[in-house]
Amino acid sequence: MLSIPDLIKKKRDGGVLTDEQVTTFIRAVTDKTIQDCQTGAMLMAIWQKGMVVKETETLTREMMKSGEVMSWPKEWAGLMVDKHSTGGVGDKVSLVLAPALAACGCKVPMISGRGLAHTGGTLDKLESIPGFTIQQSTAQIQKILGSVGCCIVGQTERLVPADRVLYALRDATSTVDSLPLITGSIISKKGAESLNALVLDVKFGRAALYKDLDSAKELAQSMVNVGNGLGMRTGAVLSCMDATIGRCVGNSLEVIESLETLKGKGPEDLMELVITLGGMLLMMTDLVSNLSEGRKKISDAVTGGAALSKFQAMMEVQGVAKDVAQSLCSPNTDYHRVLRKAAHQTELTTPADGVVVDVDGLVLAEILHKLGAGRSMVGEPVNHSVGAELLVSLGQKVKKGVPWMRLHYEDPAPTPDQIQRLQNALSLGTDKNKPTQQKQTLVKEVLLPQNK
Ligand code: URA
Repeated sequence: MLSIPDLIKKKRDGGVLTDEQVTTFIRAVTDKTIQDCQTGAMLMAIWQKGMVVKETETLTREMMKSGEVMSWPKEWAGLMVDKHSTGGVGDKVSLVLAPALAACGCKVPMISGRGLAHTGGTLDKLESIPGFTIQQSTAQIQKILGSVGCCIVGQTERLVPADRVLYALRDATSTVDSLPLITGSIISKKGAESLNALVLDVKFGRAALYKDLDSAKELAQSMVNVGNGLGMRTGAVLSCMDATIGRCVGNSLEVIESLETLKGKGPEDLMELVITLGGMLLMMTDLVSNLSEGRKKISDAVTGGAALSKFQAMMEVQGVAKDVAQSLCSPNTDYHRVLRKAAHQTELTTPADGVVVDVDGLVLAEILHKLGAGRSMVGEPVNHSVGAELLVSLGQKVKKGVPWMRLHYEDPAPTPDQIQRLQNALSLGTDKNKPTQQKQTLVKEVLLPQNK
């Protein structure tokens, strides 16, 4: 058996590690019998030399097995599904998709994350609802799936401990952006949920982690290969992340937009993502026979109110008081009776007549982050009420001086420079057909498992 320094040398020199060698490395990480400097050196060797599909699959499987692998009652076989997104701006898909899938008969143990850099986190959004408890044990998750069908929770301590170690050291050694390491990190956690089907929303564009379509596609293909290799039917969509998804960005504003969507009044782009991702999962679990049937079933679950009932039930079992959950899910409710509204709002107005051809989602997200909507350090609190509402849509004709964005803020207030940058995020054109519209090309490509 090779020693750890020999394994590092083999990878450093471009060798392909055997299954046994990958296992030795991950066991040593999990058992803490390897020094951090050795792990860091191996991570850098992997970052530089990459891994073949087989190595990545073994890495992912061993990471998955480093902790608890969830198990489910026999009668749920075939129904366990989840989604992962590589992170976006205004990405509230999970809040609508999880209950929609539950309404269609799936079991959805959705393990989500917090905001990372400028991108928002599903857990932060849900925590803007008073009482919502994201920390649930595996036994509680199973109970919730039995009664409601879906939950949205944080990662438990026992799930994939090797990833916690590797992730921290990747951050410290500039090795986060490595295809096999990202694949291992994301897919091991989904594998530990013991899913039957997984769909990945891999974003590309200026507000995404991967800016260009080709590199996003490479990541998507790597995760699809490994997910399928681990026995989960895994598919992916490549979706554009230039502007925002929907019109609201910021934790409690996004909860409001999600609830409006669950009441049948959601923006088209958000619905398109929910319907596509959900339709794929229904098809991959064989609950429907083709994608268009799956899309229709998800769409009906949202527009017909079944998904809203699931969301209400999920809130209640995850700690939200019954009257609060009921009030949020009632028609024409005043959301701010429950969700705290920021102390200040200001509206930005259009500088000229024209057609809205672009709103830079990255600029918007970065400024909201600075105003407190996101965190700079793990564990830092976020201000749930900070956010922005877009008051215009791409392609819309506007007159000079009409409000196009409402900014919700507290302390710190936006500086004049931040206001100017926000104002510059809006591009007005003259040609209504200018092809910068994100909404027309939101889902660029769909990758399905080979047997589908
Ligand atoms: N999210 C993860 O969980 N891991 C990564 O490596 C990147 C994003």
